[in-house]
Amino acid sequence: MAHNPLAPEWLSSPADANTLTDGLWPSSARRTDDGAITIGGVSAGDLAAQFGTPLYVIDETDARTRAAQLRAAFDAEFARIGTTVRVYYAAKAFLSTEVARWMVEAGLNIDVCSGGELAVALAAGVAPGRIGFHGNNKSRAEINDATRVGVGTIIIDSPVEIERVAEAAGRHGMVQNVRLRVNSGVHAHTHEFLATSHEDQKFGVVFEDAPALVAAIRAQPSLNFLGLHCHIGSQIFGVDGFAESASRLLSLQADLLAGGPVPELNLGGGFGIAYTSVDDPSPVADLAAALADIVAAECARRGIPVPVIAIEPGRVIIGPAGVTLYEVGTTKPVRIGENTRLYVSVDGGMSDNARPALYGAEYSVRIADRVSEAAPALVRVAGKHCESGDIVVDADYLPGDVAPGDLLMVPATGAYCWSLASNYNYVGRPAVVAVADGEARVIVRGETIDDLLARDAGVPRSAHEVSTSSTGEVSTSSTGEVSTSSTGEAGSTGEAGSTGAAGSTNDMKETTR
Ligand SMILES: Cc1ncc(COP(=O)(O)O)c(C=O)c1O
Repeated sequence: MAHNPLAPEWLSSPADANTLTDGLWPSSARRTDDGAITIGGVSAGDLAAQFGTPLYVIDETDARTRAAQLRAAFDAEFARIGTTVRVYYAAKAFLSTEVARWMVEAGLNIDVCSGGELAVALAAGVAPGRIGFHGNNKSRAEINDATRVGVGTIIIDSPVEIERVAEAAGRHGMVQNVRLRVNSGVHAHTHEFLATSHEDQKFGVVFEDAPALVAAIRAQPSLNFLGLHCHIGSQIFGVDGFAESASRLLSLQADLLAGGPVPELNLGGGFGIAYTSVDDPSPVADLAAALADIVAAECARRGIPVPVIAIEPGRVIIGPAGVTLYEVGTTKPVRIGENTRLYVSVDGGMSDNARPALYGAEYSVRIADRVSEAAPALVRVAGKHCESGDIVVDADYLPGDVAPGDLLMVPATGAYCWSLASNYNYVGRPAVVAVADGEARVIVRGETIDDLLARDAGVPRSAHEVSTSSTGEVSTSSTGEVSTSSTGEAGSTGEAGSTGAAGSTNDMKETTR
C-alpha cells in the first residue's frame, strides 16, 4: 500500500504490518503459528482472558537480563580505566517490590525520589545502604525517615537541604553520605543537547555555587561528602551530551579536590530506548565504553584520580521489557481531504500511558491475537478518555481489517507508563503482570471501582459496603466483598461515567485550551 500522506515523514508503510520490528519488543516476544504474540511464552489471548485489558505485561527475564548486562558492561569498561561503578536503578521509571528485588538480584542499587518510593524499596527488603534518595523538595519527614533507616546516600538538591539533612543525621547519631546535584548547564534529549552556562530549571544547584556549598557540607560533622551528581535529561541517544557534562563536572571535581576528598561522581541516567522503527539508541555496551573513555581522558587531562562512577538508568532497563495489552472497542475512518486516517479506540489511554499527552511521545502498535493479509492502513490508536489529546499511538500502520474485539499490543511501555498512571475519568489503573517461562503472575493488582470508591469519604459505609456489579452498576451488598476484577468492569463503569457530567466538564475544558 502506498504511503499515506497523513503519516509523519519518518513513518513508512510496512511490507507486512504484522511484523514485530526488531529492537522494540521484549526479547521473548514472538508470533506463534496461530498468529498470536506471546511474551515470556504466554499468548496475548491468554493474558487478556486471565487478567483482562488494559494490562501491563513485563517480561521478567528480559528486565533481569537488561539490568545484569548493563551492570556487567559498565563494570568491565570502568575496570578498564581503573575504577568501579555503582549502578542505581531509577525507580521512578517503574517500581514495585518485585521489580526492586529483580534489580538488587542483578547487583543494582535503587534510586528513589519520594518517601513512597523509599517505602516500596524497603518493603522489598532492599538494604537501606543500597538506596540513593533524590528530590528537589524532600519534606523534613522524608529526610528524617531516610536518615533514620540509614539510606546509603542523599542527593542534596538545594542549599537549604544541607542543614536539614545534617540536623536529621545528627538527631539519629549517624554520619550521612551525601552527593550534591549540580546543573552542568547541559540539557539533552534524544539527538540534541544544549550546553549553556546557566540552566533555568528546578533541579540541582547553580554550577558556580557548588564550591561554597561543598565547603558547607564538609563543615557539617554529620555529613560525608561523596561527590557531585548531575542528570542531563532523558531518552538520550548519543554520548555527546554526557561527554560535555562529564567534562564540566570533572573540572569542578578538580577544584573541589583542593579542599578534601571527592571519591565519587554520579553521571545520572537518561539512556534512550527505541519506541518506533526509526529510533536508533546507542547500545548500552557502546555507551559504557564511550563514557569510560571520556572520564579517563578528562581525569588524565586534569591530572586527577579517576573517581568511582555512579549512574542511574531507569528506562533503558525496564522500558523495553514492558508492553501494554488493549482491546479495540471501536474503529472509525476519518477522511481528511483525499486521505483517510483510521481511528482505533482502545479500552485504556492517557490514564495508563500519559507520555504521548505529556511529551508528544511516539509509540508503535501491532494486532496481538492474529495476523492478517489485509493491506496496511494508517491508524491512530486513541484512548477512551474525555480528551482529544488522549492518544496512545499517534501514527502506525496496522492491517486495514483491524476491528472491535482485536487485541492490540504496544511495545516499550515498561518505563514511565505505570508510574505516571492516573485515575482520570475514574478509570482504575491496570494490573501489572510478570511473564516468564510460560507463566504469568500479577505483581501489582489492578484497581477496581471499589478501590476508587473506597477513598471517597462521602460514600455511605455504615451498614453496607459499596461494590459494583459486572455491568458497572453501583450497588450495596451486605457481604462486604471486594471485587477483584481489575479491568473490564472498571472500564465499563468509567465509560458510563464519562458520558455524564464529567464528559461535559471536559468538553468545556478542551475549548478553553
Ligand atoms: C535524577 C534522575 N536520575 C535518573 C533518572 C532516570 O532517567 P532514565 O529513566 O531516562 O534513565 C531520572 C529521570 O528523570 C532522574 O531525574
